[in-house]
Amino acid sequence: MKKVLVATEKPFAPIAIKGIREVIEAAGYQLELLEKYTAKEQLLQAVADADAIIIRSDIVDAEVIDAAKKLKLVVRAGAGYDNIDLAAATAHGICAMNTPGQNANAVAELAIGLMIYAQRNMYNGASGTELRGKNLGLHAYGNVARAVARIAEGMGMNIYVYDPYTSQEAVSANGHTKVDTVQELYSTCNIVSLHIPATPETKQSIGRDLVGAMPKGALLVNTARKEVINEPELLALMSERTDIKYFTDIAPAALEDFKNCQGRFFAPPKKMGAQTAEANINAGIAAARQIVAFFENGDERFRVNK
Ligand code: 3PG
Repeated sequence: MKKVLVATEKPFAPIAIKGIREVIEAAGYQLELLEKYTAKEQLLQAVADADAIIIRSDIVDAEVIDAAKKLKLVVRAGAGYDNIDLAAATAHGICAMNTPGQNANAVAELAIGLMIYAQRNMYNGASGTELRGKNLGLHAYGNVARAVARIAEGMGMNIYVYDPYTSQEAVSANGHTKVDTVQELYSTCNIVSLHIPATPETKQSIGRDLVGAMPKGALLVNTARKEVINEPELLALMSERTDIKYFTDIAPAALEDFKNCQGRFFAPPKKMGAQTAEANINAGIAAARQIVAFFENGDERFRVNK
């Protein structure tokens, strides 16, 4: 019997686990849960006899892959797969997948929530500003960014997009404005929302040059990855320009330093963009279905490694 392990340091909602279990058991496989684990050793032990694993932001590095002697498939229930060592997976003949789009709405709603929270001074009662009529810059135009745009449109924001991988036609078809350079996005927009993955090209790429080009009262919202921020540069800029705010879903490495920017910085204790029952159900069940389709039909549609 195939064993599917759900290894989530930050667990899915129980209703999502119920759905995952139904899909896995209907296929005749066995489901095992490793939730809220606190030590890597627990993961290393649990993966030892798993044929497939479902993870979230859990780190699947070369050591984990090495310990997973039967593993054929790892599915990241979510969008970003920078937590998987893809080269190690490929070297061991393991397929890695994600579940693109399944948690996008949850992250988008949180991004909009962060914008309102920032522009209303963290609900402290002081006079703030509205989103209506403001220029919103979407740095990249994937599933989350498009969901943000859909909500922001309803709030009367003007939407600008920088994404060299998306055509002018695709952006215009949605009624949004595509800008040619990343500098133009930042110099044009009151609020920039980050939707880039963490790759060697994007890591540390958001710093003084870009954020410093934003107009007075700028807000940077990050529901993507902390690694894309050049934290020393952003901290230095925020101490010079006390009009700039940084609201993020992911605690920065230099959390204590950012906390000094009182009223202009916010991060929740745990990354929570995709932490809704709906997103857990969508991404978790999609992951379970992808596992069954992989083993039963050789379906590798959502494969992300070579
Ligand atoms: C993603 O890449 O899908 C999001 O960052 C969500 O991550 P999480 O599953 O750890 O909440």
